[in-house]
Amino acid sequence: MRKAVCPGSFDPVTNGHIDIISRASNLFDEVVVAIGVNKAKASARLFTAEERIEMLEKACSDFPNVTVAGFDGLLTTFCEENGIGAIVKGLRAVSDFDYELQMAQMNSSLVDVETVFIPTSPEYSFLASSLVKEVATFGGDVSRLVPPFVLERLTSRLAERAAGGGR
Ligand code: PNS
Repeated sequence: MRKAVCPGSFDPVTNGHIDIISRASNLFDEVVVAIGVNKAKASARLFTAEERIEMLEKACSDFPNVTVAGFDGLLTTFCEENGIGAIVKGLRAVSDFDYELQMAQMNSSLVDVETVFIPTSPEYSFLASSLVKEVATFGGDVSRLVPPFVLERLTSRLAERAAGGGR
């Protein structure tokens, strides 16, 4: 049984993430999409872990071998606890590579896990959740970049934030 994890912040899930998850689901018997904590991005978080899980579950509902989970600690601990031997990461451009290589090497120094890089499809090479949030905050059209139900959640969360509410 080849089991892999697709880890990320997914704040929120984009069409680029779904492309990588879909392709990983063709390569592995089982794929766990795992929402972790990226310390560097924690202050810019727009959705709670529960909300991100809910959106990912909906986005992955067409992939029978994909499940969604959240984790708090190290990705390598999550891998060990769940019998996962491969970490799948999408690579958008060479600029992603330095950091991803460093994380891959750190992770494999901690436990016996391989990182598999999947090149992002060209149509999504510019796509990042952080940019989607920024463009949407200023009223830009991100409808081609996220699933319709994510667009809805994003629009209402940004409206709440603008009105001084939010989480
Ligand atoms: O989508 P992101 O923000 O690039 O995802 C990064 C994430 C969450 C996969 C990464 O920050 C992570 O693995 N966090 C868990 C904590 C951990 O294991 N840190 C050490 C990485 S070498």
